[in-house]
Amino acid sequence: MSSASARPATTASDQGPLVGDVCHCLRAYVRPQRGANGTAQGARRRRKDVNKMRAAVVYESMFGNTATIATSVANGLRSAGVHVRVIPVTAAGDDVLRTHDLVVIGAPTHALGLSRPSTRADAVLRGAPAEVEARGVREWLEDLQDAHSVRIAVFDTRARAMRHLPGSAARHVAHLLRRRGYDVAPSTSFYVGGTEGPLGRHEEARAGDWATDLGHQMMRQVVV
Ligand SMILES: Cc1cc2nc3c(=O)[nH]c(=O)nc-3n(C[C@H](O)[C@H](O)[C@H](O)COP(=O)(O)O)c2cc1C
Repeated sequence: MSSASARPATTASDQGPLVGDVCHCLRAYVRPQRGANGTAQGARRRRKDVNKMRAAVVYESMFGNTATIATSVANGLRSAGVHVRVIPVTAAGDDVLRTHDLVVIGAPTHALGLSRPSTRADAVLRGAPAEVEARGVREWLEDLQDAHSVRIAVFDTRARAMRHLPGSAARHVAHLLRRRGYDVAPSTSFYVGGTEGPLGRHEEARAGDWATDLGHQMMRQVVV
């Protein structure tokens, strides 16, 4: 992947001004528009411009838990006014970073990091559907076309009993992308009771709140 054009990696705490990062359509949202003050036409314009902020939630899921969190994340972003597509990684193209303003990536933690073909095969032996075994986030990242104007956030699901262990699929993704020059927001984890689930009682709500904050934060960074 191209590293020559990559910006230097930044730390998680470096949220930096996003204005330089956002695409032209986001600038259109923050630019005051003629007749926008308090008129119905202005309200329609503002709504239309917000809808131009495009996010994708790309997820991998063997037993359905990460898929459920991905749906909550998408709903949270929508409530912040972001237009969202939810894409299973088995169907995600290599151009996702180039065609969205924000990409949220979710994956289950396997063997302290991202899944591999062998860990996905293990999951299938434990009852996961065979069709999700073919490709995970690790393989998708290897094929991705770089596009450094995109904003990235990452989450994973993990077994609650292993929460004190350092391994996390989300941190693994963040590490790989920062190495490629991306500015990645601090990652987060959502917990399952065991390998197959279920999700913890409040995890779906927590995911929705996390995503709503992310959506609002993105909007605020654009506006200042
Ligand atoms: C092969 C395998 C390895 C796993 N390794 C870990 C691990 O290292 N740490 C952890 O917290 N959970 C681990 N888990 C539990 C997964 O994180 C859990 O199955 C996943 O969060 C469920 O999400 P999903 O339904 O979207 O697949 C492992 C699960 C499998 C199948």
